[in-house]
Amino acid sequence: KPVVLSGIQPSGRLTIGNYIGALKNWVAMQDTHDCLFTLVDLHAITVRQDPAALRERCHEFLCLYLACGLDPARSTLFVQSHVPAHSQLAWILNCHTAMGELNRMTQFKDKSSKHADNINAGLFGYPVLMAADILLYQADAVPVGNDQKQHLELARNLAQRFNARYEAEVFTVPEPFIPEVGARIMSLGDPTAKMSKSDEVEANYVALLDEPKRVVKKIKRAVTDSDAEIRFDEAAKPGVSNLLSMYSAVTGEGMADLEARFAGEGYGKLKGELADAVVAFLEPLQERYRTFRDDPSSLDAILRDGARAARERAAPTLDRVFEVSGFIPAA
Ligand code: AQP
Repeated sequence: KPVVLSGIQPSGRLTIGNYIGALKNWVAMQDTHDCLFTLVDLHAITVRQDPAALRERCHEFLCLYLACGLDPARSTLFVQSHVPAHSQLAWILNCHTAMGELNRMTQFKDKSSKHADNINAGLFGYPVLMAADILLYQADAVPVGNDQKQHLELARNLAQRFNARYEAEVFTVPEPFIPEVGARIMSLGDPTAKMSKSDEVEANYVALLDEPKRVVKKIKRAVTDSDAEIRFDEAAKPGVSNLLSMYSAVTGEGMADLEARFAGEGYGKLKGELADAVVAFLEPLQERYRTFRDDPSSLDAILRDGARAARERAAPTLDRVFEVSGFIPAA
């Protein structure tokens, strides 16, 4: 089976956009791929984090991974900082990356304007650490959204450059994986911007752990447009199209069927039914979340096993990297 690696930063609050665009596909890929899913806490500290809040959020995200259907019996589920090889490989890759390459990264530009008081070297090197995450496991494929395409391109370049420089097939060159299902979910307040888990305006996203009442309120207030027609047209009707995408993703109903069902209806009806559908989807998910959250010793065991499996898988790649680099063995 092809190896797939993907991760999410423990920052902000996991949203229905993260579910539809990432977690839902991860769950499905467990049948067809050899999967590694990680919580990238080392990446999260490229912006300032409160340690207690970070700790709590890491537990929360992991329980949500499990509640969404990630299965530690079929996938390797782990926390990035539990596998020291990520930082070790990142250092070596840093020494093969030009400043100019990193200067061109649009995410760095965006994030450094957002966090102008803390433009640290880790933020600059973020894509190199991401390359290490991927190359360490010889991943064949990496599911990527648009905002990560440039980073994956760097990982591919680094793999090729390293292999060529040392005349050895040390790294697999990863391919981008564009999942068949999975729309990009847009902000409820501005349907031309993506729904973001770190949005400062809470009304702009539906969090996976939002209470039903809150979900209903947020969806009812979502921005639509002035004509009253319910049809899927992202360019002309981004707000309504976003609501339809969410509906289709949580219920599995096709777009044509949805358009037919809501033909001639008003936005109020669409929003009401969408809110019901999202709540019906979230309630059992939140119930599963609480089961995992209330059983910390099982979570610890999952993390211990995941860390061990990931370390074992990472070790041969790092050994080979050290060897071709000319480092002498420890013993
Ligand atoms: N709106 C979205 N629709 C579909 N997929 C999405 N993803 C993110 N937003 C949407 C997918 O979720 C995974 C994790 O992405 P991320 O960590 O970049 O999360 P984010 O919500 O996009 O977070 P922000 O806003 O960039 O905040 P920070 O900086 O805190 O992480 C990816 O697979 C992504 O495609």
